[in-house]
Amino acid sequence: MHTHIWQVNPHQPDISILSRAGDILKKGGLVAFPTETVYGLGANGLDARAVNSIYQAKGRPADNPLILHIADQSAVEKLARNIPKQAYLLMEKFWPGPLTIILARTPAVPDIVTGGLNTVALRMPQSTIALELIKLAGVPIAAPSANLSGRPSPTTAQDVLADLNGKIDVIIDGGNCEIGLESTVIDCLGEKPVILRPGGITWEMLSAVLGPVLIDPALAGDSSLKPRAPGMKYRHYAPQAPMLLIEAIQPRSYELLNTEINKALAAGKKIGLLISNSAAKSIEVNSGQILLQCYGSRLQPEQLATDLYSLLRWFDSRNVDIILAEGVEEQGLGLAVMNRMRKAAGYNILH
Ligand code: TXA
Ligand code: MG
Repeated sequence: MHTHIWQVNPHQPDISILSRAGDILKKGGLVAFPTETVYGLGANGLDARAVNSIYQAKGRPADNPLILHIADQSAVEKLARNIPKQAYLLMEKFWPGPLTIILARTPAVPDIVTGGLNTVALRMPQSTIALELIKLAGVPIAAPSANLSGRPSPTTAQDVLADLNGKIDVIIDGGNCEIGLESTVIDCLGEKPVILRPGGITWEMLSAVLGPVLIDPALAGDSSLKPRAPGMKYRHYAPQAPMLLIEAIQPRSYELLNTEINKALAAGKKIGLLISNSAAKSIEVNSGQILLQCYGSRLQPEQLATDLYSLLRWFDSRNVDIILAEGVEEQGLGLAVMNRMRKAAGYNILH
Protein backbone atom coordinates (compact mmCIF):
# COMPACT_ATOMS: atom_id res chain seq x y z
CA MET A 1 0.00 0.00 0.00
CA HIS A 2 1.25 3.49 -0.77
CA THR A 3 0.85 5.93 2.11
CA HIS A 4 -0.10 9.42 0.91
CA ILE A 5 0.87 12.52 2.85
CA TRP A 6 -1.53 15.43 2.53
CA GLN A 7 -0.46 18.75 3.94
CA VAL A 8 -3.19 20.79 5.61
CA ASN A 9 -3.02 24.17 7.33
CA PRO A 10 -3.99 23.48 10.97
CA HIS A 11 -5.70 26.86 11.38
CA GLN A 12 -7.53 27.00 8.06
CA PRO A 13 -7.76 23.44 6.83
CA ASP A 14 -8.54 22.80 3.18
CA ILE A 15 -11.98 21.19 3.44
CA SER A 16 -11.72 19.43 0.07
CA ILE A 17 -8.67 17.50 1.30
CA LEU A 18 -10.32 16.63 4.60
CA SER A 19 -13.46 15.50 2.83
CA ARG A 20 -11.41 13.09 0.69
CA ALA A 21 -9.88 11.77 3.90
CA GLY A 22 -13.36 11.51 5.41
CA ASP A 23 -14.48 9.41 2.43
CA ILE A 24 -11.55 7.04 2.93
CA LEU A 25 -12.54 6.66 6.58
CA LYS A 26 -16.18 6.03 5.68
CA LYS A 27 -15.09 3.28 3.29
CA GLY A 28 -13.06 1.49 5.98
CA GLY A 29 -9.59 2.96 5.32
CA LEU A 30 -6.98 4.22 7.78
CA VAL A 31 -6.13 7.93 8.08
CA ALA A 32 -3.59 9.36 10.52
CA PHE A 33 -4.40 12.90 11.63
CA PRO A 34 -3.08 15.51 14.07
CA THR A 35 -4.81 16.34 17.33
CA GLU A 36 -3.73 18.82 20.01
CA THR A 37 -2.19 15.91 21.96
CA VAL A 38 -0.51 13.49 19.52
CA TYR A 39 -1.24 12.13 16.03
CA GLY A 40 -4.07 9.60 15.97
CA LEU A 41 -4.54 6.63 13.64
CA GLY A 42 -8.19 6.86 12.68
CA ALA A 43 -10.75 4.37 11.41
CA ASN A 44 -14.55 4.32 11.27
CA GLY A 45 -15.37 3.46 14.89
CA LEU A 46 -18.62 1.72 13.98
CA ASP A 47 -16.99 -0.59 11.41
CA ALA A 48 -15.44 -3.60 13.17
CA ARG A 49 -13.34 -4.52 10.13
CA ALA A 50 -11.87 -1.04 9.83
CA VAL A 51 -11.11 -0.98 13.55
CA ASN A 52 -9.44 -4.37 13.26
CA SER A 53 -7.05 -2.95 10.68
CA ILE A 54 -5.87 -0.38 13.26
CA TYR A 55 -4.73 -3.22 15.51
CA GLN A 56 -3.01 -4.88 12.52
CA ALA A 57 -1.17 -1.74 11.42
CA LYS A 58 0.06 -0.90 14.92
CA GLY A 59 0.75 -4.44 16.10
CA ARG A 60 -1.44 -3.57 19.08
CA PRO A 61 -2.62 -6.19 21.60
CA ALA A 62 -6.34 -6.87 21.07
CA ASP A 63 -7.19 -6.37 24.76
CA ASN A 64 -6.14 -2.71 24.65
CA PRO A 65 -9.31 -0.71 23.90
CA LEU A 66 -9.52 2.40 21.70
CA ILE A 67 -10.86 5.90 22.21
CA LEU A 68 -13.82 6.98 20.09
CA HIS A 69 -13.41 10.57 18.90
CA ILE A 70 -16.52 12.66 18.34
CA ALA A 71 -17.14 16.19 17.08
CA ASP A 72 -20.55 16.80 18.54
CA GLN A 73 -21.82 16.17 22.06
CA SER A 74 -25.04 14.66 20.74
CA ALA A 75 -22.97 11.61 19.74
CA VAL A 76 -22.36 10.80 23.41
CA GLU A 77 -25.90 9.51 24.08
CA LYS A 78 -25.65 7.13 21.13
CA LEU A 79 -22.43 5.54 22.37
CA ALA A 80 -22.85 5.72 26.16
CA ARG A 81 -25.63 5.21 28.69
CA ASN A 82 -26.27 5.97 32.39
CA ILE A 83 -24.11 9.05 31.98
CA PRO A 84 -23.34 10.54 35.41
CA LYS A 85 -23.76 14.24 36.13
CA GLN A 86 -20.02 14.57 36.71
CA ALA A 87 -19.33 13.45 33.17
CA TYR A 88 -21.58 16.19 31.78
CA LEU A 89 -19.72 18.71 33.94
CA LEU A 90 -16.43 17.55 32.46
CA MET A 91 -17.74 17.72 28.88
CA GLU A 92 -18.98 21.23 29.46
CA LYS A 93 -15.75 22.40 31.02
CA PHE A 94 -13.05 20.54 29.05
CA TRP A 95 -14.47 19.55 25.65
CA PRO A 96 -13.27 20.01 23.04
CA GLY A 97 -9.89 19.22 24.59
CA PRO A 98 -7.38 16.65 25.85
CA LEU A 99 -9.78 14.74 28.11
CA THR A 100 -11.07 11.21 27.54
CA ILE A 101 -14.07 10.11 29.59
CA ILE A 102 -14.84 6.44 30.35
CA LEU A 103 -18.57 5.69 30.33
CA ALA A 104 -20.87 2.65 30.20
CA ARG A 105 -21.29 1.75 26.54
CA THR A 106 -24.34 1.09 24.38
CA PRO A 107 -24.65 -1.81 21.90
CA ALA A 108 -23.84 0.68 19.11
CA VAL A 109 -20.17 0.35 20.02
CA PRO A 110 -18.50 -2.66 18.38
CA ASP A 111 -16.79 -5.10 20.79
CA ILE A 112 -13.48 -4.69 19.04
CA VAL A 113 -13.35 -1.00 20.02
CA THR A 114 -13.62 -1.75 23.74
CA GLY A 115 -11.56 -4.93 23.86
CA GLY A 116 -14.60 -6.69 25.32
CA LEU A 117 -15.08 -4.19 28.18
CA ASN A 118 -18.59 -2.91 28.92
CA THR A 119 -17.26 0.65 28.98
CA VAL A 120 -16.25 3.01 26.19
CA ALA A 121 -13.69 5.84 26.08
CA LEU A 122 -14.94 9.09 24.47
CA ARG A 123 -13.06 12.24 23.56
CA MET A 124 -13.85 15.42 21.63
CA PRO A 125 -10.49 16.74 20.42
CA GLN A 126 -9.79 20.43 20.08
CA SER A 127 -7.70 20.51 16.93
CA THR A 128 -9.62 22.03 14.00
CA ILE A 129 -8.33 19.40 11.59
CA ALA A 130 -9.50 16.58 13.85
CA LEU A 131 -12.94 18.12 14.45
CA GLU A 132 -13.53 18.82 10.75
CA LEU A 133 -12.36 15.37 9.75
CA ILE A 134 -14.70 13.67 12.22
CA LYS A 135 -17.62 15.80 11.01
CA LEU A 136 -16.87 15.03 7.36
CA ALA A 137 -16.51 11.31 8.04
CA GLY A 138 -19.92 11.45 9.74
CA VAL A 139 -19.06 8.66 12.19
CA PRO A 140 -17.18 8.40 15.50
CA ILE A 141 -13.49 7.86 14.77
CA ALA A 142 -11.60 5.18 16.69
CA ALA A 143 -8.05 6.44 17.06
CA PRO A 144 -5.10 5.29 19.12
CA SER A 145 -1.82 7.16 18.88
CA ALA A 146 -0.42 6.65 15.36
CA ASN A 147 2.77 4.84 16.37
CA LEU A 148 3.82 1.21 16.24
CA SER A 149 2.79 -0.41 19.50
CA GLY A 150 5.53 0.21 22.09
CA ARG A 151 7.16 3.20 20.35
CA PRO A 152 6.89 6.81 21.54
CA SER A 153 3.68 8.47 20.35
CA PRO A 154 4.06 10.60 17.20
CA THR A 155 3.89 14.38 17.42
CA THR A 156 4.72 15.07 13.75
CA ALA A 157 3.65 13.57 10.42
CA GLN A 158 7.26 12.40 9.92
CA ASP A 159 7.06 10.37 13.15
CA VAL A 160 3.90 8.69 11.84
CA LEU A 161 5.56 7.97 8.51
CA ALA A 162 8.61 6.45 10.23
CA ASP A 163 6.36 3.91 12.00
CA LEU A 164 3.48 3.28 9.58
CA ASN A 165 4.70 3.92 6.03
CA GLY A 166 3.05 1.44 3.66
CA LYS A 167 0.56 0.31 6.30
CA ILE A 168 -2.04 3.08 6.14
CA ASP A 169 -3.80 5.06 3.40
CA VAL A 170 -3.15 8.67 4.33
CA ILE A 171 -1.30 10.86 6.79
CA ILE A 172 -2.71 14.35 7.19
CA ASP A 173 0.26 16.57 7.93
CA GLY A 174 -0.91 19.44 10.12
CA GLY A 175 2.45 20.22 11.72
CA ASN A 176 3.50 19.72 15.33
CA CYS A 177 1.09 18.77 18.12
CA GLU A 178 0.78 21.45 20.77
CA ILE A 179 0.54 19.40 23.96
CA GLY A 180 2.71 16.47 22.90
CA LEU A 181 1.34 13.94 25.44
CA GLU A 182 -1.80 11.82 25.14
CA SER A 183 -5.09 12.97 26.68
CA THR A 184 -6.02 12.55 30.32
CA VAL A 185 -8.23 9.47 30.80
CA ILE A 186 -10.80 9.73 33.60
CA ASP A 187 -13.25 7.13 34.84
CA CYS A 188 -16.46 8.60 36.30
CA LEU A 189 -18.29 5.33 36.79
CA GLY A 190 -17.60 4.88 40.50
CA GLU A 191 -18.43 7.09 43.46
CA LYS A 192 -15.20 9.06 43.13
CA PRO A 193 -13.72 9.87 39.72
CA VAL A 194 -10.35 8.22 39.00
CA ILE A 195 -7.58 9.39 36.66
CA LEU A 196 -6.45 6.33 34.72
CA ARG A 197 -3.88 8.21 32.63
CA PRO A 198 -2.60 11.72 33.45
CA GLY A 199 -2.44 14.22 30.59
CA GLY A 200 -3.07 17.78 29.47
CA ILE A 201 -6.12 18.27 31.71
CA THR A 202 -4.40 18.08 35.07
CA TRP A 203 -5.46 16.63 38.41
CA GLU A 204 -5.64 20.20 39.73
CA MET A 205 -8.01 21.27 36.92
CA LEU A 206 -10.22 18.21 37.39
CA SER A 207 -10.37 18.60 41.16
CA ALA A 208 -11.41 22.22 40.81
CA VAL A 209 -14.51 21.07 38.91
CA LEU A 210 -15.31 17.73 40.55
CA GLY A 211 -13.95 17.92 44.09
CA PRO A 212 -11.84 14.95 45.20
CA VAL A 213 -10.32 13.05 42.26
CA LEU A 214 -8.33 9.83 42.77
CA ILE A 215 -5.31 8.70 40.78
CA ASP A 216 -5.11 5.04 39.77
CA PRO A 217 -2.49 3.66 42.23
CA ALA A 218 -1.06 1.47 39.47
CA LEU A 219 0.33 4.66 37.85
CA ALA A 220 2.98 4.93 40.55
CA GLY A 221 4.67 1.93 38.96
CA ASP A 222 3.81 -0.77 41.48
CA SER A 223 3.82 -3.78 39.16
CA SER A 224 1.69 -5.86 41.53
CA LEU A 225 -1.27 -3.57 40.79
CA LYS A 226 -3.37 -3.97 37.68
CA PRO A 227 -3.95 -0.68 35.85
CA ARG A 228 -7.57 0.05 35.04
CA ALA A 229 -6.72 1.51 31.64
CA PRO A 230 -5.47 -1.63 29.95
CA GLY A 231 -3.04 0.39 27.82
CA MET A 232 -1.15 1.56 30.89
CA LYS A 233 0.19 -1.91 31.64
CA TYR A 234 2.29 -2.12 28.52
CA ARG A 235 5.88 -0.92 28.64
CA HIS A 236 5.45 1.68 25.96
CA TYR A 237 6.46 5.22 25.08
CA ALA A 238 9.87 3.58 24.99
CA PRO A 239 12.92 4.68 23.01
CA GLN A 240 15.26 2.01 21.63
CA ALA A 241 18.11 2.96 23.96
CA PRO A 242 17.79 2.02 27.63
CA MET A 243 16.81 5.01 29.73
CA LEU A 244 17.67 5.85 33.33
CA LEU A 245 15.47 8.38 35.11
CA ILE A 246 16.87 10.44 37.98
CA GLU A 247 14.09 11.51 40.33
CA ALA A 248 16.10 13.05 43.17
CA ILE A 249 15.57 16.66 44.21
CA GLN A 250 18.20 19.25 43.28
CA PRO A 251 21.11 19.48 44.03
CA ARG A 252 21.22 15.74 44.78
CA SER A 253 20.15 15.09 41.19
CA TYR A 254 23.32 16.82 39.95
CA GLU A 255 25.53 14.39 41.94
CA LEU A 256 23.63 11.38 40.63
CA LEU A 257 23.77 12.68 37.06
CA ASN A 258 27.50 13.27 37.35
CA THR A 259 28.11 9.77 38.66
CA GLU A 260 26.00 8.14 35.94
CA ILE A 261 27.57 10.27 33.19
CA ASN A 262 31.06 9.26 34.33
CA LYS A 263 30.09 5.60 34.56
CA ALA A 264 28.65 5.61 31.04
CA LEU A 265 31.64 7.50 29.61
CA ALA A 266 34.04 5.05 31.26
CA ALA A 267 32.12 2.24 29.58
CA GLY A 268 32.62 3.98 26.22
CA LYS A 269 28.93 4.79 25.84
CA LYS A 270 27.36 7.54 23.80
CA ILE A 271 24.93 9.39 26.08
CA GLY A 272 21.67 11.18 25.39
CA LEU A 273 21.31 13.63 28.26
CA LEU A 274 17.90 15.20 28.96
CA ILE A 275 18.13 17.60 31.88
CA SER A 276 16.85 20.89 33.28
CA ASN A 277 18.67 24.15 32.52
CA SER A 278 19.80 24.46 36.12
CA ALA A 279 21.34 20.97 36.04
CA ALA A 280 23.11 21.83 32.79
CA LYS A 281 24.70 24.80 34.54
CA SER A 282 25.78 22.77 37.54
CA ILE A 283 27.34 19.69 36.02
CA GLU A 284 30.13 19.21 33.57
CA VAL A 285 29.07 18.28 30.09
CA ASN A 286 32.18 18.50 27.97
CA SER A 287 32.51 15.24 26.17
CA GLY A 288 31.83 14.69 22.47
CA GLN A 289 30.12 11.48 23.58
CA ILE A 290 27.26 13.43 25.18
CA LEU A 291 24.25 14.74 23.25
CA LEU A 292 22.74 17.34 25.53
CA GLN A 293 19.10 18.48 25.47
CA CYS A 294 17.94 21.00 28.09
CA TYR A 295 14.24 21.26 28.79
CA GLY A 296 13.99 24.43 30.88
CA SER A 297 12.50 24.40 34.35
CA ARG A 298 11.47 21.38 36.43
CA LEU A 299 8.49 23.39 37.65
CA GLN A 300 7.16 24.28 34.21
CA PRO A 301 7.43 21.24 32.01
CA GLU A 302 5.09 22.45 29.22
CA GLN A 303 7.89 22.61 26.66
CA LEU A 304 9.23 19.23 27.77
CA ALA A 305 5.75 17.74 27.38
CA THR A 306 5.56 19.06 23.84
CA ASP A 307 9.04 17.82 22.93
CA LEU A 308 9.49 14.65 25.02
CA TYR A 309 8.53 12.04 22.43
CA SER A 310 10.35 13.75 19.58
CA LEU A 311 13.47 14.04 21.77
CA LEU A 312 13.32 10.32 22.54
CA ARG A 313 12.99 9.59 18.81
CA TRP A 314 15.85 12.00 18.10
CA PHE A 315 18.16 10.24 20.57
CA ASP A 316 17.31 6.97 18.84
CA SER A 317 18.09 8.45 15.44
CA ARG A 318 21.52 9.46 16.78
CA ASN A 319 22.13 5.94 18.10
CA VAL A 320 22.86 6.81 21.70
CA ASP A 321 23.66 3.84 23.96
CA ILE A 322 21.90 5.22 27.00
CA ILE A 323 19.51 8.05 27.82
CA LEU A 324 20.01 9.78 31.19
CA ALA A 325 17.06 11.97 32.12
CA GLU A 326 16.34 14.27 35.05
CA GLY A 327 12.75 14.16 36.29
CA VAL A 328 10.47 17.16 36.84
CA GLU A 329 8.28 18.20 39.78
CA GLU A 330 5.14 16.10 39.94
CA GLN A 331 2.52 18.85 39.84
CA GLY A 332 0.29 20.21 37.10
CA LEU A 333 1.42 18.81 33.76
CA GLY A 334 4.46 17.36 35.60
CA LEU A 335 2.35 14.39 36.70
CA ALA A 336 1.79 13.35 33.08
CA VAL A 337 5.39 14.08 32.09
CA MET A 338 6.72 11.91 34.94
CA ASN A 339 4.28 9.12 34.09
CA ARG A 340 5.57 9.00 30.49
CA MET A 341 9.21 9.34 31.52
CA ARG A 342 8.90 6.47 34.01
CA LYS A 343 7.32 4.27 31.38
CA ALA A 344 9.92 5.26 28.80
CA ALA A 345 12.59 4.27 31.32
CA GLY A 346 10.84 0.95 32.00
CA TYR A 347 10.80 2.07 35.68
CA ASN A 348 14.61 2.15 35.73
CA ILE A 349 14.73 4.95 38.32
CA LEU A 350 17.30 6.44 40.73
CA HIS A 351 15.90 8.34 43.72
O1 TXA B 1 -4.60 11.97 23.19
C1 TXA B 1 -5.06 10.84 22.97
O2 TXA B 1 -5.82 10.27 23.78
C2 TXA B 1 -4.64 10.17 21.66
C3 TXA B 1 -5.26 10.98 20.52
C4 TXA B 1 -5.05 10.33 19.19
O3 TXA B 1 -6.60 11.23 20.78
N1 TXA B 1 -5.08 8.81 21.64
C5 TXA B 1 -4.52 7.85 22.42
O4 TXA B 1 -5.03 6.58 22.23
O5 TXA B 1 -3.61 8.08 23.19
P1 TXA B 1 -4.32 5.27 22.78
O6 TXA B 1 -5.09 4.16 22.20
O7 TXA B 1 -2.88 5.32 22.48
O8 TXA B 1 -4.57 5.29 24.32
C6 TXA B 1 -5.87 5.06 24.83
C7 TXA B 1 -5.83 4.73 26.30
C8 TXA B 1 -5.21 3.37 26.53
O9 TXA B 1 -4.40 3.42 27.70
C9 TXA B 1 -6.44 2.50 26.75
O10 TXA B 1 -6.16 1.36 27.51
C10 TXA B 1 -7.37 3.45 27.47
O11 TXA B 1 -7.16 4.69 26.81
N2 TXA B 1 -8.78 3.04 27.29
C11 TXA B 1 -9.51 2.99 26.15
N3 TXA B 1 -10.75 2.53 26.38
C12 TXA B 1 -10.84 2.29 27.70
C13 TXA B 1 -11.85 1.80 28.57
N4 TXA B 1 -13.06 1.45 28.11
N5 TXA B 1 -11.57 1.67 29.89
C14 TXA B 1 -10.36 2.03 30.38
N6 TXA B 1 -9.35 2.49 29.61
C15 TXA B 1 -9.58 2.62 28.29
MG1 MG C 1 -0.84 4.95 22.43
